[in-house]
Order: sequence, then structure tokens, then C-alpha cells
Amino acid sequence: MKKRILTGDRPTGNLHLGHYFGSLVTRLKCQDEYDQMIMIADLQALTDNFDNPSKVKENVMELMLDYLSVGLDPKKTSFLLQSKVPELAELTVLFSNLVTVNRLQRIPTIKAEIADKKEIFGKDGESVPYGYLGHPVSQAADIFLVKADVVPVGEDQMPLVEVSNEIIRKFNRIYCPKNPIFKDTEGLLSPNPRIKGLDGNSKMSKSLGNTINLIDTDAEIKEKVMKAITDPMKIKKDDPGHPDGCMVAYYYKLIKPEEYYKMESECKSGDRGCVACKQRLTENIINFLEPIRERRKFYEENPELVDKLLKDGTSKYRNIGQETMREVKKALLLEE
Ligand code: TRP
Repeated sequence: MKKRILTGDRPTGNLHLGHYFGSLVTRLKCQDEYDQMIMIADLQALTDNFDNPSKVKENVMELMLDYLSVGLDPKKTSFLLQSKVPELAELTVLFSNLVTVNRLQRIPTIKAEIADKKEIFGKDGESVPYGYLGHPVSQAADIFLVKADVVPVGEDQMPLVEVSNEIIRKFNRIYCPKNPIFKDTEGLLSPNPRIKGLDGNSKMSKSLGNTINLIDTDAEIKEKVMKAITDPMKIKKDDPGHPDGCMVAYYYKLIKPEEYYKMESECKSGDRGCVACKQRLTENIINFLEPIRERRKFYEENPELVDKLLKDGTSKYRNIGQETMREVKKALLLEE
């Protein structure tokens, strides 16, 4: 039997190259080896977008199209919509007794997000909703409703996997010490470091406005690459360049590694100027996105197929989840 992976994203915007090289490449690899389930976490998205349900709703379909366009294969990966699984709400309530408010407040990811989003959470976090603070509990339910063996994560999500494991250990200890229902899940750290933005920021992120989206047009890509940060010492074409801090070089290496060495030596020797280099990178990105755009077009023209894939994946997840809930309710003496 294949091991099960559960992973997911909040539907709050289109995926970009940071997602591609950060998490999607891992998922493309994992779909051959694992029973891979990808959750569109619309309920989790509402925890910090509760005032904007239409944004969340619109991005569910967008996220599905992004997933399918990069080559996630519906025969190998299943996709599910969190809000269509009522068992998750039940398990979340039961798990919520097993973690303290104090523990949730100490999770570094939560602390950082609260500090980042002052417009929603208040200057000192005084407006943090109960639902947002509790989202790690609901995420533990996402993982353990289907007893996932592995959860691929970026560094910032690792503390959430730890809390999830603490919850189920406590669950086993109190309710079913002789026949533990759950076993620890393994957080699989992405081999790829966080992908930088075009502006040199250490994170590519929509809120920072430094992304190249998978759905960007040629003109948008060109405009963004032209504005990317390059070596400030290289002013004229024949000045010797330093590709180290240059974002054009950084993306070149990701997108077209086989041409990188040539680019690097021509930049350093002053045989290639920044404008030409940016033009070539733009072409390379457009070529790279070509098959992604083609797949997207196919699925955009077949929306009923996309709906069906999401429904089927959700049913599969629910069927497994209902089995887990029977065990859980028995252990809690809520059912015979
Ligand atoms: N927290 C993830 C994000 O911010 C989304 C998510 C929801 C998730 N449930 C999950 C990830 C379960 C892994 C496992 O995008």
C-alpha cells in the first residue's frame, strides 16, 4: 500500500513561480510514489478573509486550474474541497479540547502572521478571531481525518505539524491508550529553499507584488522581468557583472539551468548586457510556461470535468474520513 500524503493551499490567489519551484515540483514528484491528496482549504482561507467570501469562492476554481495546468495528474493525485467535508468540523471540535490557547499563541507561524497582518489582527493582535487562532486545530483534523503519513511543508509550516502530532498523541493517551487510533505524521521539509522575489526580497509573495504568476501574459512577464533587480555595478553592457545578487541570474538558473553557465560567463566578462539578458530570460519563462498554458486552456474549456475531479476527490477523502470518525466517536463514548 502506498503511503498517503496530505497537503493543501488556501484559495486566495493564483499560483506563481515561487509556488512552482517551492512546492509544486515536489508534488509532481510525489504523485508517482504516494497516494497524494491535495486540499483546497477554503474554510482555512476564511479564517483571515472572513470579510471576503467572494474572493475565496472565486479562487477555488482558479486553484484547481493552476494545479491541473502544472501537470498534477488527476489519475495520481486527488483534489478535495475542505468545506464539503462536514466530518472535518466534527473532528476539529473534538481536537480543540486537546490543545491550550497558550500553546496556539506560541506557534511561531501564528505569531508572525499576526504581526504581519495588522490591518486584520490589530496593532497588538487584539483583534485576532478565535477561528484564526484555532486554524492549526482544524489543520490537524485535515491531516488526521484521513490519517496522512506525510505532510510536505515549507519551513514555516513545520510548527503546525508538531502541534498536530501533539494533539493526536494526547488523543491516543486519553481515549485509546491500548489501541491508538492515530500515529504521528511526518513533516517532509521541501528540498527547495524559499524562492526569492523579482525585487530581491527573500520571499516571492502576492502581497509583496514581486511575483510572476503562472497565468501572466507575455506582456506582463516582460514588464516584470524588465524591472527585476540586477547588479547595480553593471551599468553598461561591457561592465563586468556580478550575477550573485542579480535576480535575473537567479531566475535564469531556475528556469533554464542548461543555459546558466553561458549566461554567467558572458555577464562576468562583459559580453552580455542586462537588457539582452532580461529579454532572453523573458523568452525562457514564456517557453517554460507554454505547456502549462496549454493544459490550462484544455481544462478551462472543460469546466464540468474540473468540477467532477474535485467532487470525486472530495468523496474519496470523505469515505476514508467517515471510517475514522466512527473509530473516534467510539473512543470518546459518543457512539456504541
Ligand atoms: N496551511 C496551508 C496554507 O497556508 C493550507 C493547509 C490547510 C494545509 N490544511 C492543510 C497544508 C493540511 C497541509 C496539510 O496554505
